[in-house]
Amino acid sequence: MTSLDRSRLARLHERERAAFTAARPRSRELAERARAHMPGGVPMSWMVKWPGDFPVFVESAAGAHFTCVDGIDHVDLCLGDTGAMMGHSPAATVDAVTRQLSRGITTMLPTEDAIAVSTGLAERFGLPYWQFTLTATDANRHAIRYARLLTGRSKVVVHNWCYHGSVDEAFATLGEGGTTVDRPSNIGAPVPTSETTRVVEFNDLEALERALAHGDVAAILVEPALTNIGIVLPDEGYNEGVRELATRYGALLINDETHTICAGPGGYTRAHDLHPDLLVIGKSIGGGIPCGTFGFTAEIADRIACSVELEDIDVGGIGGTLAGNGLSMAAMKATLEQVMTPAAFEHMVPLADAWADGVQAGIDAVGADWHVTRLGARAEYNFSHTPSHDGQEAHDSDDFELQQYLHLYALNRGILLTPFHNMALMCPDTTTADVDAHSAMFRECVEELFS
Ligand SMILES: Cc1ncc(COP(=O)(O)O)c(C=O)c1O
Repeated sequence: MTSLDRSRLARLHERERAAFTAARPRSRELAERARAHMPGGVPMSWMVKWPGDFPVFVESAAGAHFTCVDGIDHVDLCLGDTGAMMGHSPAATVDAVTRQLSRGITTMLPTEDAIAVSTGLAERFGLPYWQFTLTATDANRHAIRYARLLTGRSKVVVHNWCYHGSVDEAFATLGEGGTTVDRPSNIGAPVPTSETTRVVEFNDLEALERALAHGDVAAILVEPALTNIGIVLPDEGYNEGVRELATRYGALLINDETHTICAGPGGYTRAHDLHPDLLVIGKSIGGGIPCGTFGFTAEIADRIACSVELEDIDVGGIGGTLAGNGLSMAAMKATLEQVMTPAAFEHMVPLADAWADGVQAGIDAVGADWHVTRLGARAEYNFSHTPSHDGQEAHDSDDFELQQYLHLYALNRGILLTPFHNMALMCPDTTTADVDAHSAMFRECVEELFS
């Protein structure tokens, strides 16, 4: 296997940083102005982590591409980290949202669209009842709260190195001897996560059973395949085993499909006939308009109805005045019915395979000790020889310096990858030419890096 020369990487990285800055005078100027009233010159702190000395400012985005303020066209393989999985500004969503904009944006009252959306979600995911939020993060928070209410238990089980949005309970990792420790980046945690959370490795049913045996677990919150520490696929029978243990130990199972929706129109859950008690999704189902939702069984709906007093219902920790607003509902109705269709996935999944094949060809050409993992319309390469079996393995194979370089190299050639991963997502507008552009770019990149 070919090994990486770190000093060469550092030299090449300097070259790419200079090229990035030279090609983007307008983004640079905006980034400097932006610093006056936004720390780091960015609207959200994590945006400073994009490769290059300042973020690329977007002029416009359509379908699978965006143009930056310096007039450079980009193939967008990040797609808002799934928020734009159905392409930027899909026509049906834009039409529906445009109509709704002049008919009232938010009223705290339902619109008729809510009936179509909840009915469509029930058919798609197989759970009969739905409630709405503005983000997947909030949907996860609410699902956890209901699980605590219904079980009378306090703890949540999550996978090591999971990500479910800014959910307090989920910023935990696995410590020595199965203990729970705060994730290093956990900012201002309300209480130590050891009080709220038990952490288990993905694909480890024995550890899950040990965690559940304490008898204090309200919910198991999972992605049915990990997507946020690289892609980690489940062993055969793993998700079924999680289901069985949840039932046996009286914990509710929450499948977070926010990213694994890339597996098909009904997400990983439907593609693999899984049966969670609750299901969370956000981002893509509104075509990019803020929305989130969680679905649950009839039994849970009945138990909630018996447990919450009407008088207290608005102050019980589940809510949001903007939740279920007319604009989000119009966006979800149009996106779910007209854009996120089986036909769209029939286009997207083969393109993700073609992308993975292109990357694999580049890896093979230079003999790099890397591998590619596929998950429906999404694929990713990692810096280890074999696919990771759990979150820790995936975490340990990460290489921040190398990753930043590869992302910058791609960006300088008009291709945006998902940040913090080497991940690509296809949308209904992605073309074979877009994928081929990535394959050619990747091959040149690794050939130079390993030459
Ligand atoms: C699996 C998963 N769940 C939930 C979220 C949170 O989504 P949002 O940032 O829209 O709240 C994310 C975000 O990346 C995610 O990956």
